[in-house]
Amino acid sequence: MFLSLPNLLLTALIQLLLLPNIQSCPYLTSLDSSPGGQLAASNLRGNHGSDYHHDNRQLQSVSSASSSSPTSSPSYPTSTSSNPFCVKTNGRPPKLSTKGIQTAVKAIKTLFYGQLSAYANNTLALSDIFGQSIRLAFHDAGEIDLTNSTNFMGPDGCISNTSPNKGLKEPTSFVVTLLEPLWQKYCDLISRGDFWALIGKLSVEKSDPTGTINIPYYYGRVDKADCILSDATNPLPTPFALLNTPTSLGDSLVNSFVNRMGLTVNDIVILSGAHTIGHVHLQNNPIVDGAWDDTPHVFDNNYFNFLLNSQSIARTSVIAGLPGVPAFVSSLNFWKANNSATIRLNSDMAIAFGLNFRPHLTSQECSLTSVPTNSYGCINPLSTTPPSTLSLVQLYAANNSAFLADFAPSFTKMSNLGYGFNGSTGKLGSLTLFTPAY
Ligand code: HEM
Repeated sequence: MFLSLPNLLLTALIQLLLLPNIQSCPYLTSLDSSPGGQLAASNLRGNHGSDYHHDNRQLQSVSSASSSSPTSSPSYPTSTSSNPFCVKTNGRPPKLSTKGIQTAVKAIKTLFYGQLSAYANNTLALSDIFGQSIRLAFHDAGEIDLTNSTNFMGPDGCISNTSPNKGLKEPTSFVVTLLEPLWQKYCDLISRGDFWALIGKLSVEKSDPTGTINIPYYYGRVDKADCILSDATNPLPTPFALLNTPTSLGDSLVNSFVNRMGLTVNDIVILSGAHTIGHVHLQNNPIVDGAWDDTPHVFDNNYFNFLLNSQSIARTSVIAGLPGVPAFVSSLNFWKANNSATIRLNSDMAIAFGLNFRPHLTSQECSLTSVPTNSYGCINPLSTTPPSTLSLVQLYAANNSAFLADFAPSFTKMSNLGYGFNGSTGKLGSLTLFTPAY
């Protein structure tokens, strides 16, 4: 059902009125009041009997379990997500040396993996720890903006106090309860930027059951005492991002990843594969709760399989009309699978189905078998032209080894944003390749 002209005008009017709020909090749109909305989301878990739909009650128990562990309780009043402060050195940067970094990396790896073993039978906790660690490495590095000559952010052990970083800076997050105490132990030897990049790499490697992925690691990142951005200036993509079309809710993926971070279109596809780990959490964005595949603690190509191998249906909500104006259907900018509890963001849909518009219809769906001829595309409106990124999505869906082989160098490139490495110098300096001496 298409929106009628008066409804379109009303939608535009409401968007104009809401624009300042939407920009200051891009995770918020209308509440989902549709029959398939949050109520259904909270029941999805029961349909499948696995933990891939996130349950907040379990998260709380995991967080309290972690805060009672020996290394996770202290709080550092002067060290926050947006202000790294090493208590050991009274705020001075680490003295970087080959021996020091060898010692720190070895000890951190042992301790981090030791902490994970306490959760060996708790796949939900593992997915949360891996999820926050990998996302943190992206969000630290991805705040760089090469189009802005006054932005010297990047992988600097500091994330801004903005909406995209929800879930990574709260006192109950694993970033604060589990990772920060670990960094404080070795912060005289390793910067927080180097530490966060290391934890991201270790999380990917630990969650790859084939044990084959090996992410090259570089060190030498310099921490920033503060990193101030607004939602509008943060280059990190919003979940509503489309591939190439900026919307009132945020930038396009190409503008975020390619123009502002200096990555490539292929990197968008490859790095989106990190959504094989972790969840979208209701407490971080009040629309949807769930994982992208059925094993959110396992790093593999399942994200791509789930994206292609089911019909994805746009989540919508009925907005009550104003006096004299009928109610209308509005997009929630999230998608769900029709045959599992899995979810997708607009950005995920964009790399497989090339959305160039925000979803806005109740019956909008995309799949490999959607359109009347039972083939690739979306319906409502009909769109059968694949984006240039589809072939890579298909390759990775079919081949886990190819995904793992391509993910490692892309993750390194992302973790090193702004820095030169392998002989070059970047805006922020250059990094040194770590080669273990053990
Ligand atoms: C392509 C654009 C991207 C968008 C729009 C996006 C957006 C999001 C959103 C909205 C969440 C849910 C956060 C929460 O509710 O806790 C999320 C989770 C996550 N993202 Fe992304 N992301 C993108 C790319 C990436 C990249 C490049 C990486 C890493 C290489 C990444 C890693 C993760 C991980 C691991 C999680 C799970 C976090 C957890 O379980 O706590 N994302 N992302």
